[in-house]
Amino acid sequence: MIIAIDGPAASGKGTLARRLAAHFKLPHLDTGLLYRGVARALLDSKASLDDAAAATIAARVLKISSLDPVRLKTKGLGEAASRVAAIPQVREALLALQKDFAHQPGGAVLDGRDTGTVIAPDADVKIFIEASAEVRAKRRHKELVAAGENIRYEDVLATIKSRDTRDSGRSIAPLIPAKDAVLLDTTHLDIEAAFRAALSIVEAARAGRGRS
Ligand code: DC
Repeated sequence: MIIAIDGPAASGKGTLARRLAAHFKLPHLDTGLLYRGVARALLDSKASLDDAAAATIAARVLKISSLDPVRLKTKGLGEAASRVAAIPQVREALLALQKDFAHQPGGAVLDGRDTGTVIAPDADVKIFIEASAEVRAKRRHKELVAAGENIRYEDVLATIKSRDTRDSGRSIAPLIPAKDAVLLDTTHLDIEAAFRAALSIVEAARAGRGRS
């Protein structure tokens, strides 16, 4: 079974994907880490985030096994990843390994922006997570403050809105729900309620497909 979960920054899709993967004992890929990895490589080599040639080389040598979430899930890298993710050659270079991950025997759970539209259009279940920008910014702000960051809510909201605009507005693989995705609005749901809702979407899809 392939489960594809897409949604905007700080929508909680990563947490839901991880929990669904654990529940169904499936491997999980946070596809945002790939773009974060490319951005990290460019920053480390002092290349510009707009340098398409350097970004493409960084994407081509990237290995899923070398992605370290602790190192890559930092606040600043999200914006940088969103910039390199708009480079078509970078997306092309990262396509095959994501498709291979999704289509491994037994299936997988992937989360990102285009997992249901581009990476696995044939996914058994597609969920598109929505939540208002204000609620997402509030959640992210709380996490950052808890992690010791001194940051204003207004700045978190502005960054989230700018990433939303870039990720949804780019010409290649924009953040949009697949036609057959189930929309899950988590604005008024806590993580437990969101997980239960996601689980029932998956169970309903499996029942409809004869529990494949
Ligand atoms: O999910 P995240 O915040 O770690 O993603 C970081 C950026 O990477 C996001 O702003 C856009 C890009 N991204 C993408 O374009 N396609 C994906 N499938 C996943 C992430």
